[in-house]
Amino acid sequence: MPKKRCRQHVNPLSFRAEVERPDWEKVFPDLSRPLEVDVGCGKGTFLLARAASVPGRNLVGLEIRKPMVERARKDAAKLSLTNVFVLEANANLHFASLFREASVERVYVHFPDPWFKKRHHKLRVVTKAFLEDLASRLRDGGELHFMTDYEEYAKAVLPLVEAHAAFENALGPGTMALAPLVPDALSDREEWHMRQGDPIFRYLFRRRGR
Ligand SMILES: C[S@@+](CC[C@H](N)C(=O)[O-])C[C@H]1O[C@@H](n2cnc3c(N)ncnc32)[C@H](O)[C@@H]1O
Repeated sequence: MPKKRCRQHVNPLSFRAEVERPDWEKVFPDLSRPLEVDVGCGKGTFLLARAASVPGRNLVGLEIRKPMVERARKDAAKLSLTNVFVLEANANLHFASLFREASVERVYVHFPDPWFKKRHHKLRVVTKAFLEDLASRLRDGGELHFMTDYEEYAKAVLPLVEAHAAFENALGPGTMALAPLVPDALSDREEWHMRQGDPIFRYLFRRRGR
């Protein structure tokens, strides 16, 4: 059973607004840099730390909770980061329209809302349809980083991704990472669960060549 912890989920179905694709040429000073996308970036702790540590890459955070988006934007401005952009968007609805085919180097899905009840599983971010979007938007050799503290979610995602023809488990079939995949930029949840000594299920998937 998952540990009792107050988790306030916003139903992603409540965010269905149209989201226009930003003019990426205007957003980022250099569009030729590798692009990374943090899905469900929350208040942007990981996103901003990552952007600060890799100035030669462009980072986009997608988040359905407006206050979190505003907070992340404010903090990015305070840090004068020009290689990061936070967008109020529903990854399940908007991912494919926001990015060009084979243009994304890396996608992070860190501690997605678990939606414990079976009837709520359809609200989870990682679905077959979402994987199709990722397969199309990731470039060959691009990466999908997935982390959760909820074993049942990990057990659902692992076979789903490994069975997909476009992906392979970069660490070997069924294998999870035993340490942070990006040690110099932990997400809030990753940091919290590490402090609690909780198990964390971390996977590194790679997009196969087309
Ligand atoms: C449990 S929090 C994890 C936040 C952060 N990634 C971390 O590891 O600390 C999950 C986040 O995903 C956001 N989210 C849920 N469904 C989403 C969707 N379909 N598109 C974008 N963001 C979503 C939630 O609003 C929430 O901020």
